[in-house]
Amino acid sequence: MKILVTGGAGFIGANFIKYMLKAHPEDELVCVDKLTYCGNLESLEEELKNPRMRFLKTDICDTEAVDKVFAETRPDMVVHFAAESHVDRSIEDPLIFVKTNIIGTQNLLEAARKYGIKRFHQVGTDEVYGDLPLDRPDLFFTEDLPLKPSSPYSASKASADLLVQAYHRTFGVPVTMSRCSNNYGPYQFPEKMIPLMIANALADKPLPVYGEGINVRDWLYVEDHCKAIDMIIRNGRDGEVYNIGGHNEMRNIDIVKLICKEVGKPESLITFVTDRKGHDLRYAIDPAKIGRELGWKPETMFADGIRLTIKWYLDNRSWWERIVNGEYKDYYERMYKNR
Ligand code: NAD
Ligand code: DAU
Repeated sequence: MKILVTGGAGFIGANFIKYMLKAHPEDELVCVDKLTYCGNLESLEEELKNPRMRFLKTDICDTEAVDKVFAETRPDMVVHFAAESHVDRSIEDPLIFVKTNIIGTQNLLEAARKYGIKRFHQVGTDEVYGDLPLDRPDLFFTEDLPLKPSSPYSASKASADLLVQAYHRTFGVPVTMSRCSNNYGPYQFPEKMIPLMIANALADKPLPVYGEGINVRDWLYVEDHCKAIDMIIRNGRDGEVYNIGGHNEMRNIDIVKLICKEVGKPESLITFVTDRKGHDLRYAIDPAKIGRELGWKPETMFADGIRLTIKWYLDNRSWWERIVNGEYKDYYERMYKNR
């Protein structure tokens, strides 16, 4: 089987490629990525040497370029990760989110329809459901909930999901969709909360917690997400949505304190800063459907996953130090200066 992976030089995409090359020695992978600020070929250094792996630098917003990739490579399946993925950036500059996440997905769906594929898998987010109240721990996101996105990021991802559903219904493109909770693990760009806090703590810099730090996220180790997608593309039912999450809800402040403890830094580094606009309160996935239908369950306990993640950032300083010392500095200055 030949699988086209979009956004494979990003955090989850790179982890997915590593997982798939090991788990399926019979498959070939084609990675398509524009290499935006968060796409990094260093994350795929070993994999690029593998004869079963091909990399094509392509912008999914470029209709002709996407068509050419499909014409040349004729994939059996598409696993679509490529996106603008950071909520704070979508508040600063929504348009690129609309372009990449909506137009980019449309271009891929059109090519999938034209060339025919066995499966188009849309990697979605739980943020499309909006948020849950902090005082109702009995409520969870299920697949049948209406889409109620809060940020330009989640609105663009919800739009992409709707296009995927439309291509399934109208043109019969075989699709599956997943909506996952917050991932953490190796190779995550240090603008996201966990790697940002690890990198800042190691450099004795302030740890900027938004608001009171009481917002809750449902954290999942990235490899567990990759396994879930692998199960869905092979055995998931055509046209279905599968929620993926770890039943591992934690308040931001508790994670930041845990990181301080694990890296041996004082909690006095924690600085409460102005809250994110429209900040979603709580995400919590009900993963019963994927458990029941495909037998998936999260395997990595948070206590183990966070240690593995911190160890990775300690062992791979050059990977992220180059990022935080490069143009990311301007972003950080812009985003955090007046908070
Ligand atoms: P990321 O930002 O680390 O990586 C995104 C990748 O997409 C990068 O390699 C980037 O270069 C590429 N890309 C961006 N624009 C492109 C374009 N126009 N053409 C081609 N490539 C382009 O993101 P991530 O955290 O790995 O997320 C991957 C996917 O998973 C996204 O669709 C995101 O919405 C979804 N998701 C992420 C999480 C999470 O916690 N990180 C959770 C649920 C779902
Ligand atoms: O739920 C899935 C989503 O998880 C994905 O779809 C997104 O691509 C991914 O970025 C993530 O979104 P979040 O907004 O939840 O992740 P982020 O790491 O940006 O923030 C996690 C929480 O930490 C959130 O409540 C905001 C808070 N935060 C974040 C940053 C960057 C801080 O308190 N301080 C920070 O500096």
